[in-house]
Amino acid sequence: MSRNAEASKRYDLVAVGHALVDIRIVVDKFPGPDEEARVLNQVWGGGGSAVNVSIDGARLGLKTAIVAKIGFDSFGRIVVDELLREGVDITGLRVSSKGQTGFTIVVIDRSGDILMYGFKGVAEELEPSDVVDDIVANAKFVHIASLRIDTSIRAAEIAKKSNAKVSWDPGRVLATKGVKELEKLIKLVDIVALNNREVAALTGLKPEEYKEAAKIIKELGPELVAVKLGPRGVYALGNDVNEEVPAVKVDRVVDTTGAGDAFAAGLIAGLVRGYTTRKALLYANAVAALKITKLGSHEAPTHQAVVQYIWEAT
Ligand SMILES: Nc1ncnc2c1ncn2[C@@H]1O[C@H](COP(=O)(O)OP(=O)(O)OP(=O)(O)O)[C@@H](O)[C@H]1O
Ligand SMILES: [Mg+2]
Repeated sequence: MSRNAEASKRYDLVAVGHALVDIRIVVDKFPGPDEEARVLNQVWGGGGSAVNVSIDGARLGLKTAIVAKIGFDSFGRIVVDELLREGVDITGLRVSSKGQTGFTIVVIDRSGDILMYGFKGVAEELEPSDVVDDIVANAKFVHIASLRIDTSIRAAEIAKKSNAKVSWDPGRVLATKGVKELEKLIKLVDIVALNNREVAALTGLKPEEYKEAAKIIKELGPELVAVKLGPRGVYALGNDVNEEVPAVKVDRVVDTTGAGDAFAAGLIAGLVRGYTTRKALLYANAVAALKITKLGSHEAPTHQAVVQYIWEAT
């Protein structure tokens, strides 16, 4: 991409995927049938990968926008309010008059174990024709996460035509479809970010064979495959990297869900800031590490907080 073309882009990051309401509670213990658990802590608000990544990116100082679908209901309003409050452009948000806004209920117990209940609502009804060309074409980076294949391909095609970089996180469900079914999409993608279980599902290898699995994905065309390894950090295989970048240590793990989205926003923020791939990966690990110290789906720190944390930790 030429410098002029990049400078004229309206958004640093456009996130395409699910917009949901996320209800998160911490309980003393998971209740059995006919039992009640006491809620020790709770947060609720916007969630789903597209909401998380666009908000996390905005907190890191990026100009972000979202392309997703909500219902014309009070949950949809919660999502809109929060996106606006966080400074995310919502021009690409589609509102369905027929279905309901999806939601996720996350229950976390004292030891950090998690139960999740998911209702996708109209989130998966984001059709290829719902993707607003003008928004995706005006991005430096387009991040597509856990979204149906046809709409993902359409977003990636628009991005490619306008020289935007495409990053993709298949998520748990899509990864089970395997490389063959996803090949067309993977060929349009520049950066693949997924965890070791997903890269295994995608390639038919074992989670511990993530290096071989990453190689299979990389050979289909992406310039960078980042395999997220939870507390171990990330394994990156790219044109200029082939190494494990360790996680950034935190004192207290509160809520690990949304770490993957924080990582994606951090990686893109680092690359937008012109960091080398390795430095951007380290930055992304720090963003994800700071997110997991807080309860909530998109509790990314500010850029300043990340820099300060890395500075103090090293
Ligand atoms: N316990 C931890 N300590 C420090 N960093 C962590 C920890 N867990 C996760 N991370 C950071 O978050 C990143 C993403 O987490 P993870 O590997 O769990 O991805 P994921 O499975 O996509 O997450 P998600 O549950 O959000 O989908 C890791 O690569 C790492 O940088
Ligand atoms: Mg994930």
